Amino acid sequence: MTKNYLQAAVEIAQEAGKILMEEFFRPLDIRYKGDEVDIVTQADKRSEQFIVSRINEYFPGHAVTAEEGTGQDTVSEFRWHVDPLDGTTNFAHHYPCFCVSIALAQRDTLLASAVFNPFYSELYSAARGEGATFNGKKIAVSKVATLSTSLLCTGFPTRNRKLSPNLQYYGEFTQRSHGVRRDGSAALDLASVASGRFDGFWEFGLNKWDVAAGILLIEESGGKVSDFEGQPYQLGGPLILATNGLIHEEMRKAALDISRRSKPLG
Ligand code: IPD
Ligand code: CA
Ligand code: CA
Repeated sequence: MTKNYLQAAVEIAQEAGKILMEEFFRPLDIRYKGDEVDIVTQADKRSEQFIVSRINEYFPGHAVTAEEGTGQDTVSEFRWHVDPLDGTTNFAHHYPCFCVSIALAQRDTLLASAVFNPFYSELYSAARGEGATFNGKKIAVSKVATLSTSLLCTGFPTRNRKLSPNLQYYGEFTQRSHGVRRDGSAALDLASVASGRFDGFWEFGLNKWDVAAGILLIEESGGKVSDFEGQPYQLGGPLILATNGLIHEEMRKAALDISRRSKPLG
């Protein structure tokens, strides 16, 4: 019998979380992908190795896209998007805001996802049509209805930092809201919008594995995800706007306004 997708995502994320916690208390073995900000640790690699092998065991033939490159392409319509450690920079500095992020998609439809922060034992999960939960309890997005009373979050890339337009957005949204947090884990940022801790999130240049699980959490908890034009967000698209739905249009128009006034980079 095929293992239940949600149960599998949750079980695998929790087991991988144990690996992250073992590594968290060991001396760090940091390597750099490119320049000296894009970190990869033994924890990223061990976690990914475990996740990919467990997916292969449970669902032979499914495709897997995993950040550290050990997934496999198959002709399957099912694809797992895996970030074995989202928040590597936090992890490497012992700031306990990091997680495992796993999602299964059937073609373009996300079916099940799990985001797990093993330090705090915080588990977010969702299945299409069945809602989203936090440590087993149903969650919903916040009811904050205006940008000026909202708490937002965003993130900045580790690669090509000078080319990121986000500092301008960060400054302007800080002035237009209760504030903008920068926690360093996009998957947890999205999970926090889903559970009502944050009211809105945006970021440029995220990868599929950063956002797939969090998007399903937001959709299943009543929130909204799009690009700045209001078009449905395409997995891996150049920018993402995710909110509680109530502030979506206000935030989207503010973002468009900022982009019109932004100086070209380069
Ligand atoms: C990073 C985190 C961070 C975001 C970066 C991502 P990683 O992922 O999600 O919040 O701002 O753009 O690359 O490298 O820690 O898996
Ligand atoms: Ca990531
Ligand atoms: Ca990662």
